[in-house]
Amino acid sequence: MVYLNGEFTPKNKASISVMDRGFLFGDGVYEVIPVYAGKIFRLYEHLQRLQNSLDAIQIQNPYSNNEWLDIFNRLLSFSSTANQALYLQITRGADVSRKHSFEALIPSVFVEANSLTPKSRTELETGFSAISQADFRWQRCDIKSTSLLANIIYSQQAKACHAEEVILHRDQLVTEGATSNVFIVKDSTLFTHPTGTNILSGITRDLVLESAKYCNLAIQEVAPTLTQLLSADEVWISSSTREVMPITKVDDQLINHGKVGEHWLEIYNHYQTLKHA
Ligand code: PDD
Repeated sequence: MVYLNGEFTPKNKASISVMDRGFLFGDGVYEVIPVYAGKIFRLYEHLQRLQNSLDAIQIQNPYSNNEWLDIFNRLLSFSSTANQALYLQITRGADVSRKHSFEALIPSVFVEANSLTPKSRTELETGFSAISQADFRWQRCDIKSTSLLANIIYSQQAKACHAEEVILHRDQLVTEGATSNVFIVKDSTLFTHPTGTNILSGITRDLVLESAKYCNLAIQEVAPTLTQLLSADEVWISSSTREVMPITKVDDQLINHGKVGEHWLEIYNHYQTLKHA
C-alpha cells in the first residue's frame, strides 16, 4: 500500500497526472526517514528539513506534523517489517499547461514504506570503495530536491566502477557524496564539510557528530581537501539508509592500508545505541 493525495491505495493502482510538475520538471522535494523496530527515527528532524526544503521552493506544507505522523503510522501498520524506510515526496502539483513559472497549485503528496536492511557490522568491516569526481551540481544542494539528474549520473558511474559511492569535490574541497555525507579522520580529528548551500544537511551527519562528541573525538566542521581525503586515516559516508559506512579505498588509493579504522567502530557502536534508545 502507498499513500497518494489523501488515499491509501495499492502501489499498482496509484497514478498521477501527466501535468504534475514533479513529472514535467522534477519540481518537488522529498525525505527518506528510517524506522527501526517500528519506531520512526529522528522524525521531527526530518520534518524540519522537509519544511526548510518546502520554504526554499515556495510550496506550502500540506500537513501539520501530527497529520504526517498519522499518515506514516497508518502506512507502517500495513506491514509487520520492523525496519523500514519511509519515502515521502511533495511536488508542486498539476497545472493546466506546461510553463516554468508557477501559480499556487494543490501539491501532490506520495508516501511509501520499504523494508530497510542496514548492513551488518561484519559486512561493514570489510570496507567499501568510492571514486572521486568534480561536483558539478547546482548551488542549492541544501534543498532535498527530487531533481536528481547529477546524482543519478554519479551513482551510475559508481555502479559501473563497482564502487559504493562517488565522493564529490568543489574547488579541491570535499563536499559530500552523491547520496551521502562524507567524513574523514586525520590524527584523531573528524573533518566534514560545514552545512550551508553546498551540501545536504544530513540527519545522519548530525547523528555522527553527536556520536563523535560522545566518543570524545575532536570535530572540525571544515571541508577536507582532496589531498587530505586520499591521505586520511579513515573515511566514512553517512545516510539514513546506510548509517555510517567505512570507505577503505578512494580511486586507486587505499585508506588505512585498506582496513576499517578504530574510530569508525566506536561511532558505529554508539550509533546503534542511538537507534534503539
Ligand atoms: N540521501 N547528501 C545527499 C546528496 C543525499 O542524497 C543524502 C541522503 C545525504 C544524507 O542525508 P540523511 O543522513 O538525512 O539521509 C546527504 C537519501 C538517503 C536518498 O536520496 O535516498
